This record gives sequence, structure tokens and C-alpha cells, in this order.
Amino acid sequence: MSELKTPAVVVNFKAYAEVDGLRATSLAEICASVSDETGVCIGVCPPVAELGAVARSVGIPVLSQNVDPYAPGSATGWMTPSMVKAAGACGTLINHSEHRIDDSVIGRCVSMCGDLGLVPMVCAESVERAVSVASFSPRFIAVEPPELIGGDISVTTANPRIVSDTVDAVKSVDSRISVLCGAGVKTGKDVEAAIGLGADGVLLASGVVKHKDPRSALLDLVSGL
Ligand code: G3P
Repeated sequence: MSELKTPAVVVNFKAYAEVDGLRATSLAEICASVSDETGVCIGVCPPVAELGAVARSVGIPVLSQNVDPYAPGSATGWMTPSMVKAAGACGTLINHSEHRIDDSVIGRCVSMCGDLGLVPMVCAESVERAVSVASFSPRFIAVEPPELIGGDISVTTANPRIVSDTVDAVKSVDSRISVLCGAGVKTGKDVEAAIGLGADGVLLASGVVKHKDPRSALLDLVSGL
């Protein structure tokens, strides 16, 4: 397990068929090799079923795609922070656009992660939501407008203001929080624009997972840093 440092490129594998089973580890190994080669911090969020296998196979930061605010014990089917840690992950996404939860649940997840030394990365769909979750002081907030997720136009092109406004607003609540942006991020130019807008990196998925050559996609992405 290694630490998620900024600037960071974080690849969310989602539940794409391309990362079913052993293929999640194969893609994580490509991410690790590009990270080793370039010195850029690349984090990966494999499907929860593959979290332990991926974390055992690579030395780059591995994050869960989700966590639930339950203690070990009677919590059938829930993903506890303790399980995430035991699987070898260094942190977890919380409140991804495809896995929304209430602010009160976000707060409990962030706090339980903190108790275990796990890094929480809370996703927010708007500046307002980012400000609201910043009050929990997660280590990371990732702003992603839902309408741009999975598309070919980067948030940095379609709505650069949401990135710069989120950075300013979050930092004014807690300057220790690092802000990533995501949705439609595909190229090194998109990453460069994100950094120019004040972000500490990007969170992306389809640009790597669905690319016919993920390695070349990653090399292009990290060239933007
Ligand atoms: O978690 C990252 C994701 O929501 C953005 O997806 O495919 O637009 O990079 P994508």
C-alpha cells in the first residue's frame, strides 16, 4: 500500500466489463508500471470484489469505490472501513455520482476512515455540495458534474468555472483538503488544464478503462503534469 500524493491521477475502474475478475489486476499493473516509469502518483479504484487482489499485486495507492459506515460485526453485505483497510487499500471513494449517499452518512464514513488511517475521497456534483462536504474535512474532494461523466468533453473545457470555484470554495473552508476534478477527462491537455485551474489532480474512468491502449492513454494523461 502506498500513499496518495498530489498531483495525482486517480483511475476509477467502475464496474466496466473490461475490469471483471483478473482483468482488474492487469489494468492496475499497467497503471503501476506507468507510475514507476514517470514518477507520477497514479491511484486506482478497482471493483470492490477485486480490491484485495489488486492491493496485493501493486504498490501504487489502491482505493475502494465505496465504504459503508458500519463497525465490524452484524453488517451483512456492507463494506466496512475495517474491511477496506484489511484488503490493503489506502483509502476510499465516498459518495461517487453513481453511488450517492446523504451528507450525514458521508460525515460518518469520513470520520470512521480517519480513525483507521484511511484516506477519504468524497465526490461532489457541484460547488455547493463540495462546500457542504468540506465541513467534514476529508483529505480529498473530487468535483464531477454528472452530466459530463462518461462523455468526451472534459469538465475543464465544458465547465472550467466549476473546477476553479470548487478549489476556491473548498480551500476557504479547509485549506488542507486537496481538490481533484473529473468527468470527461481523457488527455494530457485536460490534466494540464485541471492543474491550471487549481486542482491537485484528476479522477477519471472511461479515458483509461475503455481505451483500446490504456498504457498510451495513461502516458498521455501524466504528460499533462
Ligand atoms: O469517477 C470518475 C468518473 O465518474 C468520471 O468518469 O468516464 O467521465 O472519466 P469518466
